Amino acid sequence: MSFRFNFSNAPDSDDELDTSLSGPAQHASSPAPSLVPPKVHNLRSLASMIPRNISYNTLYLTPALSLSRRELYDVRMQLMSEENPFSAPSSAPAGNDLLTTSATTDVLKNVYEGGLKSWECSLDLARFLSANAANQPVPPRVLELGCGSALPTLYFFQEILRAGEKARGSRLVLADYNIDVLRLVTLPNLFLVWAREEQKWLPDEGDLDASPSLVERFVDDLERRGIELGFVEGAWGPDMVRMLNPDIGKGAYTVVLASETIYEPMAMESFVSTLLGSLDVNAGGVGLVAAKKHYFGVGGGIQDFMAKVRERGGWETGIVEETGEAGVRRCIVQIGRQS
Ligand SMILES: C[S@@+](CC[C@H](N)C(=O)[O-])C[C@H]1O[C@@H](n2cnc3c(N)ncnc32)[C@H](O)[C@@H]1O
Repeated sequence: MSFRFNFSNAPDSDDELDTSLSGPAQHASSPAPSLVPPKVHNLRSLASMIPRNISYNTLYLTPALSLSRRELYDVRMQLMSEENPFSAPSSAPAGNDLLTTSATTDVLKNVYEGGLKSWECSLDLARFLSANAANQPVPPRVLELGCGSALPTLYFFQEILRAGEKARGSRLVLADYNIDVLRLVTLPNLFLVWAREEQKWLPDEGDLDASPSLVERFVDDLERRGIELGFVEGAWGPDMVRMLNPDIGKGAYTVVLASETIYEPMAMESFVSTLLGSLDVNAGGVGLVAAKKHYFGVGGGIQDFMAKVRERGGWETGIVEETGEAGVRRCIVQIGRQS
């Protein structure tokens, strides 16, 4: 199916990319801790946490699209070297530090939700965007919910950097449950995309010396180009909707992206309301959600998601792309909301 944005104001090696899982696994021995409240972070404060050395590799997703991202082992090494790395909810059971948790399980409910590694549907969504959104204006305001390594947003960021003046005023906002995912993975990946555009000679894999002066240049360069990067940690829900969309009742984004965020039935309602509440209806805002058709053993899936979207007053076009093996089909759904 051909896909068009409809803006009215368009100005392992994932080390552990695990294709065998049908859905994130869950440890369920004790009650889940309470949810992390949302909090906004700006680029300058988060950029001060970019590690000095970033080991990275490059994913070749299509002949026209390659994206560099931080190696998972490098993230783990950083976690090992930090004394108190994990901003776990205070109610989290002892021993649930990010290093141990992410090494032993894909998801630990309300503690760590899987954002350190790249999940397969994020590759699908980045490929889909590259195949269908090329030759269209880059959307001016993009939000990725449950971004993790943020491959779909990295695609748009790369396009924005290449678009020069035409992309002035672009805004990309990245939301993840865990602040540690934002600082250890999401932002370093955005930084790598920028560095690769800046320094065309960077090899496809290796170590990048993220010196304070290079990080400073990154932040200054984005300011000069009029590109805004924003970050929000914490749980989906009404508080996050308010933080993401300061004009009450008016969604702020022309495109909202999400990949592998609908595996947990209990979180479906808050995810859908955050997604729908963030769409700028007047500007023809659309959501693109990539997910497995069913998350066997976990519960969520695309049919429940689409039903919830309709129940909450949204529309969906059905599956716009489907791929994967017989047992674990993966798909992309486009959604919107009436004004
Ligand atoms: C399985 S990971 C997918 C990460 C990334 N989108 C990808 O496909 O590689 C699920 C993501 O959703 C986010 N998430 C899960 N539950 C959440 C919640 N209740 N509120 C906010 N974010 C949540 C997590 O932080 C995590 O990054």
